[in-house]
Amino acid sequence: MKPLVLAFETSCDETAVAVVQGTQMLSSVLSSQIDLHARFGGVVPEVAARAHVEAIRPLTHRALAESGVHPADLDAVAATSGPGLVGALLVGHSFAKATAWARSLPFVSIDHMEGHLMAPRLQFEEFRPPAVVLLASGGHSQIVHVEDWGDYDVLGETIDDAAGEAFDKLARLLGLGFPGGPEIDRAAETGDPAAVAFPRALAERPYHVSFSGLKTSVATYLRKAEVAGELPELADVAASVQEAIVDVLVQKTVRALEDTGAKTLGGGGGVLANRRLRARLAEEAEARGVTVCIPRPDLCTDNAAMIGVAATHWLDRGALSDWTDTVDPGRRLSSFGAN
Ligand code: KG4
Ligand code: ZN
Repeated sequence: MKPLVLAFETSCDETAVAVVQGTQMLSSVLSSQIDLHARFGGVVPEVAARAHVEAIRPLTHRALAESGVHPADLDAVAATSGPGLVGALLVGHSFAKATAWARSLPFVSIDHMEGHLMAPRLQFEEFRPPAVVLLASGGHSQIVHVEDWGDYDVLGETIDDAAGEAFDKLARLLGLGFPGGPEIDRAAETGDPAAVAFPRALAERPYHVSFSGLKTSVATYLRKAEVAGELPELADVAASVQEAIVDVLVQKTVRALEDTGAKTLGGGGGVLANRRLRARLAEEAEARGVTVCIPRPDLCTDNAAMIGVAATHWLDRGALSDWTDTVDPGRRLSSFGAN
């Protein structure tokens, strides 16, 4: 029997708690703070930390109640220790550690991006290494070659803004709300992705991505259009912006699939909820006989079940964290080579 794990995720603006057993999600609940932050146009770290403090206890009770698991039957406790906002991370990590201590349970500290990388296991039995996984969230974008569970070769990452950050900043330029990714996704629905040819910033290194140039280009385009009194349809601009981001992510991912020869493609992080990105990746994978394991949108965005799955892997190997373990806001999945 796989261990019953109580998992916590509080790296950004979702307080999330789950109970998992192996890759089985017995419960997964969350309290989103989007409404709290929307009026500021972005996540306010202090506001996030305070909201986590308020939400975490009742959410833990809910996660346990929904799972039907009695606290006395738990085998381990896990929490995200980074990367993320330090105050936000501290709430979940401390609460989890205290819970583990009080119940004399092992504690496992998990990398948030490894959580995203493991999330497809919640939905796809066929998701197994070797695989290429595209991770794209609000703070990080990485293309990872998973040689084995726990053995990650980070082929490349963003050299400036993460893909989600780019969506959020570009949405603001377009006058859309926060978070920007889902807003652009929606606004682009009826637009023409070829309406405006925004640049595809394919950074020199083969798997690295860059989005800051796109931001400048969209800002310049909008300014010029406004001066000329020729503001185009929002749907067309949104679709064109989305296409520029998606194109870069897809091209780099395809290159990683071709170079590694991996026949499985996984994905995680909020940006993988993007409908255009999902469709394009599915198309490219199908053309190459690659199995796509990109989970449903609510498993791509932040959740605690993915932290529980990652913890199960490390528990199996006896890799427990000790009581001196603390948060690491700059935690990195692994270093990348000379690509
Ligand atoms: O992984 P995630 O939920 O939280 C972090 O770890 O950051 O990712 C959040 C990011 C935000 O930047 C949000 O705009 C983006 O994911 N996102 C999307 C979509 N849904 C969420 N981006 C594009 N299209 C979407 N449908
Ligand atoms: Zn995330």
